[in-house]
Amino acid sequence: MPKKNEVEKVISEDELSKEFKEYSVAEFFKRNRQMLGYTGKVRSLTTVVHEYVTNSLDACEDAKILPEILVEIKSLPNGHFVVINEDNGTGIPKKNIGQALGMLLAGTKFARRQQKRGQQGIGAAYATLFSQITTGKTTHVKSSIGDGLVYECDVSVDINKNNPVISNEKEYRAKFRGTRIEIELAEVEYNRSNYSVYEYLRRTAIANPHSQITLVEPNNEIIVFPRAATEIPKQPKSILPHPLGITTSDLMEMAGVTPARKLSSFLESEFSRVSSDKVKELSALVANIDFERAPKTLTWEEAERIVSAISKLKWIAPDSDALAPIGTSQLEKSLKNLLAPESLKVVERPSKVFRGGISFMVEAAIAYGGNSGSGGGIATSANSRSEPNSSSEGKGELMRFANRVPLLFDAGSCAISEAVKTIDWSRYELKDWEKLPISIFVNFTSVYVPYTGAGKLAIAQEEEIIAEIRNALMECARSVSSYLHGMQRAALQEERRAIFFRYLKEVAQVLSEITGKEKTVLEEKLRKIAEERTSLLEAEDAEEQEDELEKLEKDASSDIEDSQ
Ligand SMILES: Nc1ncnc2c1ncn2[C@@H]1O[C@H](COP(=O)(O)OP(=O)(O)OP(=O)(O)O)[C@@H](O)[C@H]1O
Ligand SMILES: [Mg+2]
Repeated sequence: MPKKNEVEKVISEDELSKEFKEYSVAEFFKRNRQMLGYTGKVRSLTTVVHEYVTNSLDACEDAKILPEILVEIKSLPNGHFVVINEDNGTGIPKKNIGQALGMLLAGTKFARRQQKRGQQGIGAAYATLFSQITTGKTTHVKSSIGDGLVYECDVSVDINKNNPVISNEKEYRAKFRGTRIEIELAEVEYNRSNYSVYEYLRRTAIANPHSQITLVEPNNEIIVFPRAATEIPKQPKSILPHPLGITTSDLMEMAGVTPARKLSSFLESEFSRVSSDKVKELSALVANIDFERAPKTLTWEEAERIVSAISKLKWIAPDSDALAPIGTSQLEKSLKNLLAPESLKVVERPSKVFRGGISFMVEAAIAYGGNSGSGGGIATSANSRSEPNSSSEGKGELMRFANRVPLLFDAGSCAISEAVKTIDWSRYELKDWEKLPISIFVNFTSVYVPYTGAGKLAIAQEEEIIAEIRNALMECARSVSSYLHGMQRAALQEERRAIFFRYLKEVAQVLSEITGKEKTVLEEKLRKIAEERTSLLEAEDAEEQEDELEKLEKDASSDIEDSQ
């Protein structure tokens, strides 16, 4: 409030306008690197590797090839690190290398509506930018689409314009197909903690059993995460958006750019499950909207009414062919290969939808014993062999994945952690699973993963998603619980037998002295009695266990009903 006699000063239009500045998306993320996962030294290094490895796996999937991926980390005397990532995927066409590695929000995936690890077109270019702002260096890339010509260059980002800058280009003939990127980084650190490159690759190997991943650590140790399955995963189909998944803003945006000339043909051609009959049903529900009009003339109010009418109609569920889960047999092979567990249960749930129309699928597994649990060794290593955990050392670990990509950070806000938290583990006698040699595995598959942020670290806590994860995990927990019961029973039986047999000889001796009968005959008779008696007890135990499991099943199904 101006004081008495004080004249309110009007700032001129020119003065105000002078303050207005535009800035690029590159500048924005340069200032907000934490949004993309670049916080902390170990985590920043893992983030760079994550971006490259997900791109490599996507590129191999596009090339329908079994991935062979090399990640090499070298430490330099000045404290900087060099990361090399090489794959045998599609390669990047020479004319797109600048966009791929030197321009944020550019890529081949976000417009495809296909289940891919990458979605946004930021990952690789931001790694280039991170190198640039921490070391002042450019990123070196070598790539070939396999036509005999190899192209190499250095890339950086023009931050003001969000444009790529290319230098030191060379092109030559050689036998190479794929992409090799070499980048120098500062403000990063290498170790083998739970958030490390090592752990990231270990988990990537579990969820991608068809790939062979080699890690060269700064001390030159070479670790091979071996291929567990030679089947190339099925390519997920591209799909059109399902009407139940769209918002008013999506509809307006699509109507603004569609080549369709009528609203009716726009809806039929650009959405899945929309037939001409469905358009008729829609037009009957929304008064005064002419579906023969040009889509571009659609107003926000009309779009709002259409979206609301869509939610009132019955629709065929989205096509689940668009989803490519890991598959139970592949996942089983992979977990056995890497964890060598004593007990393993893998569950694949049927596809479901969230937010009304986005299809998704949950796969879960619980592995017990062997190398299960955090710090679990790996099955093969080139010049070193990690020792497996002894059961007593095991610590329960939760491994979260989205479209086969490990989510190492931001566990707290993730739907998977939330689902784990809400399960009553004591029902399965796994109350202290965090202290047991247990690996809990969950992979969430969808064309559209509802990440909580641009860093793609956690899955949004949608109700339908949490319920599915719970159901899958409870099924796994039942199986582990029955294995543990079986183990306890076997131990008890063993103990009983041992007690009987320990005294058998002495009792036969005493009886023989009293009765004057042959000791060996008495011993044989006693052995028979002991065996009959213990098998009777075993049968009683087994019956008891059956009853317990039945009760567990009943409890669990009421639990599942509660969660639906
Ligand atoms: N190793 C690679 N092989 C082939 N193409 C690649 C490779 N790395 C990147 N690309 C191409 O560069 C594009 C940009 O990669 P970038 O990681 O920035 O984005 P994205 O993977 O599309 O999405 P996201 O930001 O979610 O990772 C990709 O869409 C892809 O076309
Ligand atoms: Mg990417």
